[in-house]
Amino acid sequence: MIGLLIRGGRLVDPAASLDSILDLRLCDGIVVAIGERLEPAAGDEIIDAREAFVSPGFVDMHVHLREPGFPEKETIATGTSAAVRGGFTTVACMPNTKPALDDPAVIGDLMREVKRRARCRVYPIGAITLGRRGAQPCDFAALAAAGVVAFSDDGDTVEDPRVLRDAALLARNLRAPFIEHCEPEEAIALRDLQIAKETAKSWHLAHVSTAATLEILRSARRRGVGATCEATPHHLTFTSALIAQAGAAAKVNPPLRDEHDVQALRRAVYDGTIDVLASDHAPHTAQEKEGDLERAAPGFSGLEVAVGAYAAALPDLSPSRFVELISTNPARILGVRGGTLAIGEPADVTIFADRAWTVDPAEFASKGRCTPFAGARLPRKVLTTIVGGIVQFRAADCAA
Ligand code: NCD
Repeated sequence: MIGLLIRGGRLVDPAASLDSILDLRLCDGIVVAIGERLEPAAGDEIIDAREAFVSPGFVDMHVHLREPGFPEKETIATGTSAAVRGGFTTVACMPNTKPALDDPAVIGDLMREVKRRARCRVYPIGAITLGRRGAQPCDFAALAAAGVVAFSDDGDTVEDPRVLRDAALLARNLRAPFIEHCEPEEAIALRDLQIAKETAKSWHLAHVSTAATLEILRSARRRGVGATCEATPHHLTFTSALIAQAGAAAKVNPPLRDEHDVQALRRAVYDGTIDVLASDHAPHTAQEKEGDLERAAPGFSGLEVAVGAYAAALPDLSPSRFVELISTNPARILGVRGGTLAIGEPADVTIFADRAWTVDPAEFASKGRCTPFAGARLPRKVLTTIVGGIVQFRAADCAA
């Protein structure tokens, strides 16, 4: 197989303690060499990455790909095209589909579609309860055997604490964490972290959005709870004031909060409280995002703006810490390969640069063209996305 030699980029791989100008050679779908001024092998394609960062492929652990059931909102093909445009080589997809991802046969069908259509790696997140109805736990071992990497009733909270506790006990020996959608946020975070402690189940809080939730998490960690958490581009950027201006385009779960929360969330990224940056890519049709605020669907596309939005919200984040939050940590939490460019690892690579661009949703690969970032000028962009050694995206204006 023809190799790829990525030359002259700033290679940032915190898992391997690397942050310097180095060449990277990929062949047969894996990383085969890292070093200064590598020589190409015969037939190698050369990618000039000078002035750019070269990192392990980005991993988004909170994405709605909408299949099965809602192809009018997104499909595996369009959602993973959006992913690679956003620099993501791996996404984990949420189970609020129709049918829900609560059964190994449904996972099997989904993975066949992924094999046929996906432009990046896709790992399914199984439901916690059958039909996401909050009553009966799924067969966690069977779902894990079918390839599920986490469990969540995302979009809904498991309301009955007894159901959640029983489910956590059933799943406690599986590596796949529970990912809870916490609403009402603080009360459910408090309850969940208590259940995580009692059951010793691995736990992850999705889209943390308030200063108070962060305090609850810090205090649980002091008591020995090992839970992880994520923050989204929109909660790191906007306040609820945007709703007056943007209407349904700013409607999302959890809702946009106050300036105080936005600032607390940013500080929590810098101080290490937040483990992961995740987009909560939640595309809907244009009709579902129009008109009456009450009736409009919550959520919007995130994959294609995430990297620029993180950089705008977190200007003091070092490249190494950024890669940790967007690649190393989510790969580790999900227990999937990737998240590092060590020799022998998958050739999943993202090349990005601190170059400004303006968000134009008309250019999105996602079917969901609604985003509160429309028209925003963002300071960082993805130049090239390589999945398993194959270039899946190259920006029109990129040297790399
Ligand atoms: C999610 C969706 O559309 O699937 N929307 C969102 O605002 N995050 C589901 C949900 O969390 O309500």
